[in-house]
Amino acid sequence: MSEGERLTELAKRRGFYFPAAGAYGGAAGFWTYGPQGAALKSNVEDAWRDRFVLQEGHQEISAPDVMPEAVFEASGHLDGFDDMIIECGECGATHRADHIVEDNTDIEEAESLPNEDVMDIIADHDIACPSCNASLAGEPVDNFNLMFATNIGPGTSSPGYLRPETAQGIFVEFPQLSEYARNQLPFGVAQIGKAYRNEISPRKSLVRVREFTQAELEHFVDPEEDEPPLADVEDVTLPLYSGESQQAADGGVEQLTVGEAVDEGVVTSDWVAYYLGVARDWYERIGIDMDRFRFRQHLPGELAHYAADCWDAEAEIDGDWIEITGFAYRGDYDLQKHAEHSGEDYTVFKQYDEPVTVERPTVDPDMSYLGPEFGGDAQSVADALEALAERDPEAFEGEDVTVEVDGEAYTVPVEETDFSVETVTENGEHVRPHVVEPSFGVGRLIYTMLAHAYTEDEVDGEERTYLDLPPEQAPTTVGVFPLMDKDGMAEYAREIASALREAGHSVTYDDSGAIGRRYRRQDEIGTPYCVTVDYESVEEDTVTVRERDSTEQKRVSIDGLAETIARLTEG
Ligand code: GAP
Repeated sequence: MSEGERLTELAKRRGFYFPAAGAYGGAAGFWTYGPQGAALKSNVEDAWRDRFVLQEGHQEISAPDVMPEAVFEASGHLDGFDDMIIECGECGATHRADHIVEDNTDIEEAESLPNEDVMDIIADHDIACPSCNASLAGEPVDNFNLMFATNIGPGTSSPGYLRPETAQGIFVEFPQLSEYARNQLPFGVAQIGKAYRNEISPRKSLVRVREFTQAELEHFVDPEEDEPPLADVEDVTLPLYSGESQQAADGGVEQLTVGEAVDEGVVTSDWVAYYLGVARDWYERIGIDMDRFRFRQHLPGELAHYAADCWDAEAEIDGDWIEITGFAYRGDYDLQKHAEHSGEDYTVFKQYDEPVTVERPTVDPDMSYLGPEFGGDAQSVADALEALAERDPEAFEGEDVTVEVDGEAYTVPVEETDFSVETVTENGEHVRPHVVEPSFGVGRLIYTMLAHAYTEDEVDGEERTYLDLPPEQAPTTVGVFPLMDKDGMAEYAREIASALREAGHSVTYDDSGAIGRRYRRQDEIGTPYCVTVDYESVEEDTVTVRERDSTEQKRVSIDGLAETIARLTEG
């Protein structure tokens, strides 16, 4: 059994996650988190919020899942958020064409090749349909947009889409958010919420799904002035992989501190380097195995339409490297696009300490003069003259001035341009912020945490499975068991369970089956401590506390039990 299969089996049996709507045959790519999974998910989200929002001094928002088409026209998702699809002529099954190539050849990054090349590779290698084994040679490779479409209100006049990333809910609201930040850069806005992608081939349970939770931070910075607090993370060691091949499991990883990675130019954006450092320690805190973890730089053909530089955090499971987070330097791409499409102001007004006096060249070309002379191009010529005046006022010193519009030169007498230089006082300037974006997939984090925590050992000659999750993340912090349901032990144990719940612990009370089996059940969900009530407990007000990994038991007084468990859980 592969690591992934073993995990999916345990996840279903112990209530972490299972395929959604199974009673009706389900729908691929949708999963329900059971009680343990939902608790673990909420712990991971809290840990993320604590580190990336609260400790960084950022703000969190909650935007709608459905947004109007105009948002995604501007963001580029309507045109460009596609995967390559191929349909089998024999059985009609659809597959991701680039994945089929990667799975059947030693070609990596097929996603970055043109569709025609992918078609040729499929034909050259005579790749068969994974569903029915018929040849896929000659089948067309098309683009398939991953967004789920819907209609807002009755009728079809107002199309909307389920957001494919939570990020757009932040970008589109920038004018409001900037006001809340009193127009002071830098500031960060985070969101934890659902994202939806109509993946062609969902796979590996939580790894590639159609509805998932993202935890995203959009940090808006002034590219000229703002610097990250690199000193806070400069000694953190990053396992950096910038090799050509995605799947070379070992080798190619260079251990560099954040400081070295910046000095040597391995990570080009200081902001991205900063967040790699912050994230590296956070992954370790939530229980990701640092021996099965790396940061991988995107290859040039792999960059998303908006990204200038991007690193992925990847975790190894079953010999494959899975992207769990993307760290992108998005520049001003998103704010620029939303400004263009909406006509709204997506800049921050940066106030100067002192007003400054500047000379501003202006032109006011006589449009009626330009009109007959230049026909429909009059406005473009006027715009080009205006831009030239700003860029190179000396060009207006002669008799004529020449500008180029669509490759054609237009010469205009300077006096027709009404060129002048005004002296103005400016109090500040408009700055379009750049965006640094750490984008986490919560489901993939959970999948990795569980896979890396899965441990088998032997206790008293019997095989045992347990999850060595950090106590802080474990969905249940303490199991409470009466040794037997008699002589007041059950009542006593129930009282302890409620006292622990009141103190804020997540408690499971269990009185069914042999005590050894009850321990095993808690081991399999990663419960770090089990409290057992026995005869001595009732007589002497003591209980035994068993630690999950070592299985060692200690007898302690019930006075201060909640505090003892809290201290142990917090490490
Ligand atoms: N805003 C940037 C963005 O969305 P992305 O690399 O497409 O970037 C970020 O997604 C993270 O979301 C990924 O690193 C991954 O953890 C998660 N993710 C993306 N697609 C997913 C899918 N189909 N199923 C599960 N998680 C996914």
